[in-house]
Amino acid sequence: MLVNGRKILQDAKEGKYAVPQFNINNLEWTKNILEECQELNVAVILGVSEGAAKYMGGYKAVSGMVKGLMEDLNITIPVCLHLDHGSSFENCKKAIDAGFSSVMIDASKHPLDENIRITKEVVDYAHQFDVTVEAEVGHIGGQEDNVSGTSLNATLEDCLTLVNGTGIDSLAPALGSVHGLYKGEPNLDFETMATINQNLTIPLVLHGGTGIPDYDIKKAISCGISKININTELQIAWSDAVKVFVKENPDVYDPRKVIGSGTSSMKDKVREKVEMFNNK
Ligand code: 13P
Repeated sequence: MLVNGRKILQDAKEGKYAVPQFNINNLEWTKNILEECQELNVAVILGVSEGAAKYMGGYKAVSGMVKGLMEDLNITIPVCLHLDHGSSFENCKKAIDAGFSSVMIDASKHPLDENIRITKEVVDYAHQFDVTVEAEVGHIGGQEDNVSGTSLNATLEDCLTLVNGTGIDSLAPALGSVHGLYKGEPNLDFETMATINQNLTIPLVLHGGTGIPDYDIKKAISCGISKININTELQIAWSDAVKVFVKENPDVYDPRKVIGSGTSSMKDKVREKVEMFNNK
């Protein structure tokens, strides 16, 4: 059953744990994540960047693939299909029209009033279809697909202005995390994170989950983070295993065997993250 982000994230906020968003790139990734989360019996958010959607053929192809896999694999956990870093109203609308149950509009590169205007337009459209909306304040640094930039931390005032001016369902305040690998230790602003959480009723999202040490992830959850995005770390887990397999098996050419050689590493990483996000 595809669900939007509302209940799964509110439950996480109340229960003081975090729902994972794992980004998907192809059928195998989607299958591995769905199977492992079903095994662990936890809700999962499948994040799809605009670049990944394009790579897989488009929003309809992604939506059809996810729904088909869920049916064929008897997936019964709550699964949320979420556009990650939607860059415009038009792209969010395309994902919604194709059957995504949640979208992120990332208008954080604009001044706050323009961010609010664009985000509100997405919220007004998405809520007609019971699709939930995440937005970003400040700017999350690093690089992911074609989303890049330098970090700019969010302030409580800007978070309140954006939330009150738009009616979004979850908020990603930039507080020192970056997409991709960190140069040195991450430096998260936990104090502002906790203050923002105390002043908002909607769940908070932590982007750039790769490379944040376990103790900082746990601290972030204790400061009110209810959703954590992981992309790069799964890519590394998968590609490291495939590189070893290809080196050890130079004569294998069946793509199912080559691609499939990353399955168990990926599933192990999914399990590790899920357990950590559930304080285990
Ligand atoms: P990482 O690639 O750093 O895990 O970040 C993922 C993310 O935040 C997707 O929006």
